Amino acid sequence: MIRLRVLLFVLALLPGSPSLAAAPGKAAIASAHKLATAAGFEVLDAGGNAFDAAVAVSAALSVVEPQSSGIGGGAFFLLHRATDGKQVLVDARETAPGATDARRYLDDKGELDRDKSVNGALAAGIPGEPAALAWVAEHYGKLPLKRSLAPAIRLARDGFAPDARSLMRLGQRKDAIARDPGASALFLPNGELPKQGWVLKNPDLARTLEQIAAHGHRGFYSGEFAEKLVAGVVKAGGNWTREDLARYAVREREPIVFRYRGHQVVTAPPPSSGGIALAEMLNILEGYDLATLDRSARAHLVVEAMRRAYRDRAEYLGDPDFVKMPVAELIHPLYAAGLRASIHAQKATASDSLPGFMAPVQGTDTTHFSIIDAEGNLAAVTQTVNLPYGAAVVIPGTGFVLNNEMDDFALKAGAPNAYGLVGGNANAPKPGSRPLSSMTPTFVIGPERTLVIGTPGGSRIITMVLTGILAWFDGDAPQKIVDNKRFHHQYLPDVISTENGAFTPEERKRLQAMGHTLSEGEQPWGFMNVVDWNRKSGELRGGSDSRGASGMAMVK
Ligand code: DON
Repeated sequence: MIRLRVLLFVLALLPGSPSLAAAPGKAAIASAHKLATAAGFEVLDAGGNAFDAAVAVSAALSVVEPQSSGIGGGAFFLLHRATDGKQVLVDARETAPGATDARRYLDDKGELDRDKSVNGALAAGIPGEPAALAWVAEHYGKLPLKRSLAPAIRLARDGFAPDARSLMRLGQRKDAIARDPGASALFLPNGELPKQGWVLKNPDLARTLEQIAAHGHRGFYSGEFAEKLVAGVVKAGGNWTREDLARYAVREREPIVFRYRGHQVVTAPPPSSGGIALAEMLNILEGYDLATLDRSARAHLVVEAMRRAYRDRAEYLGDPDFVKMPVAELIHPLYAAGLRASIHAQKATASDSLPGFMAPVQGTDTTHFSIIDAEGNLAAVTQTVNLPYGAAVVIPGTGFVLNNEMDDFALKAGAPNAYGLVGGNANAPKPGSRPLSSMTPTFVIGPERTLVIGTPGGSRIITMVLTGILAWFDGDAPQKIVDNKRFHHQYLPDVISTENGAFTPEERKRLQAMGHTLSEGEQPWGFMNVVDWNRKSGELRGGSDSRGASGMAMVK
């Protein structure tokens, strides 16, 4: 007995030991919508764990943020189970239909036709979100799927008032939505943009969720529902088949795991580019004593790390089921040491002096939530339909928008996607393959503290997670981490994008003197939701980005 206690004590002292030392006794949830955070707590109160809560929050966001994510989209669920330290990424990314032919997205001149890659049914991959809900509930939850989906079903049936952000995005996507009868019937009552206060009731979505609640995976991917969905997609000009739906399966993937300053970082592997890029950047930055540098010298080094990681993203990364990637090499500290050696302490490296590739991005759609439960289980989930309201198509009777994730493929080698990202063969669409993503749900687990972090924001997701982690190491609390002003560099264009107030005039001058070009005062980006746990004091904290007024972090 005494020996066991000694062993447990020693284990608790091991830095980054994958099994956490203790349980917080309370839970923390931060999500982009107060109704979704409440759905998570409802399920925890009913005896669920963090994974049941993740199913509840995910499904509720699918209802109340139709612009960001949903049943017609995909997700990455990063999970850490306290009892045995198991860490896994449930990859529910969309897949390219079997009939995918990249030429169908080109115009007569052979150029990428953005309208085809983002609007209409041809833009949609096979959804992964329903499979994720069923899988996570069955393999990791304590409650039946039905219980965890109950809050979302209620929200869909009884209705809710879409917030200002939802309505603003609706305005931006109105033309595309107006072209689709199903989407306009749902989102444009009487053909008009609804006003603030409008209550969206979605009984079709309630029924779709009920099918999933009753039959799990099968309730969406086979049988009568699947038949109706495929017929609707084909009628709307898409190319799905029943086999595509029947073949869809989540993949359980080993997370990317590496160390940074004595902490274990656990993050998203391919088909996300996020974890590898994050590892490259933090490995490079580990070689500097950032805390001793003034803000502009530090920003310079952070930008140089960003530039190098984003170049590699374009060059190497894609779906691991289809392409071979030098993952172990890219995340190796020695590789980072080589990259670090190419960084001049006071001079910007011109991106075009690095070998080959890429361009810009931003946004606050897509959605991320973070959970720590009373037992110390962790869930970091980023989910999306890609652009606001996805492909702007709703198959009548289903209640959800189809994603436009096909645009995340390099449909034409070297042609930028909606986020300005380019790619080549590694991210070319192949039947059944998953498009490369930037979604980066992440845990940082140290000897005393645990962080759960992630955000939407297209290609800027990865740099937001990076600067969020650096701020956490500086001692910032979750609310400060999510509210800090942001800057971003993605190799090409060779520009540092900044929010207003990210740098003082003096800092800007210094960065310019080093040879950096700044694009200042861009529209704010991201919608970060973070929770952390101090395992020494037992304190749990949460922060929800004040850029998105509907968000809510709660500890209970
Ligand atoms: O998976 C990706 O990287 C994109 N589909 C995410 C899109 C996104 O974050 C949009 N929001 N700003």
